[in-house]
Amino acid sequence: MNMNKNKMDVKVETKKGSMDEWPEPIVRVQSLAESNLSFLPDRYIKPASLRPTTTEDAPAATNIPIIDLEGLFSEEGSSDDVIMARISEACREWGFFQVVNHGVKPELMDAARDNWREFFHMPVNAKETYSNSPRTYEGYGSRLGVTKGASLDWSDYYFLHLLPHHLKDFNKWPSFPPTIREVIDEYGKELVNLSGRIMRVLSTNLGLKDDKFQDAFGGENIGACLRVNYYPKCPRPELALGLSPHSDPGGMTILLPDDHVFGLQVRKNDTWITVKPHPHAFIVNIGDQIQILSNATYKSVEHRVIVNSNKERVSLAFFYNPKSDIPIQPLQELVSAHNPPLYPPMTFDQYRLFIRTQGPQGKSHVESHISPRPR
Ligand code: OGA
Ligand code: NI
Repeated sequence: MNMNKNKMDVKVETKKGSMDEWPEPIVRVQSLAESNLSFLPDRYIKPASLRPTTTEDAPAATNIPIIDLEGLFSEEGSSDDVIMARISEACREWGFFQVVNHGVKPELMDAARDNWREFFHMPVNAKETYSNSPRTYEGYGSRLGVTKGASLDWSDYYFLHLLPHHLKDFNKWPSFPPTIREVIDEYGKELVNLSGRIMRVLSTNLGLKDDKFQDAFGGENIGACLRVNYYPKCPRPELALGLSPHSDPGGMTILLPDDHVFGLQVRKNDTWITVKPHPHAFIVNIGDQIQILSNATYKSVEHRVIVNSNKERVSLAFFYNPKSDIPIQPLQELVSAHNPPLYPPMTFDQYRLFIRTQGPQGKSHVESHISPRPR
């Protein structure tokens, strides 16, 4: 598929007005899980080639790199070469790494997850007031993409904006449990902060000025949003996925996984590695926009989520994105006659429209976005 075709698809969908509503009635996965089905409804059964090979709780011996950030952000501004080099390698080889001693208080991380778990434990009816639409995705949702009859994932979610300020709207945030808004607000600020620090490392590691990536993202005007994923227990986890393979469309993602339930799998060559979360670590990954800015030196890697039959799972995915209306393209400093730009400029608004209509599609979008190569 080439980029023009993608753009055309998006236009057709928009014209039909399908962005204002979902193509068919929404079924909450929580409702299905609570009805104690002994079978899995067809819509959630993946074709054999996409089914997880294992839903075992025991992950493989391999894990994504775990990097201790202690010392990296010290007052003196001295940065530890070893830590920098490990981050560099992780961004090039894995696209994913876990960070510990990242500066966000463990109590705040626990409070954020606990508040959201409590929210998702409310009856489905109580949450319907927050029900979302495909135009902005803000609120309580149960599918990504608007293709009628599409295969569905075994999860519900909540999506909200933290930045820019004009998109942050408390009325679109849950009001239960009573502490949730305050906790999300504080959590969001801390993660914006942490993201800014990691962005400086990513720039420096490419031999650029430390504010280069941040500038390319629009400086102060970046976007930040949160998607909280709720994966209920699944009657036939070996046939389903909690989230289909995808790469994150934005700049960088900081994930707070469930502390005691595995689920995230990261593609490494041709195998899926189950991530073993380290206590109070965050899982950081490169998104498509940083892959584009870095001209593919940093990799936005495909990942997916598996589910299981005896434990539900809650995860908080924080997305750090460029200002949505500025063109993103490979940085000038990183391209040359020998190393031509791989991607034409595109704003994040244009880019994510594709994801919002098509739903998770592996890495097809960033790959179809590649510039036509001379000859
Ligand atoms: C996502 C995502 C992983 C998880 O929300 O984009 O990849 O473990 N989540 O929930
Ligand atoms: Ni993701």
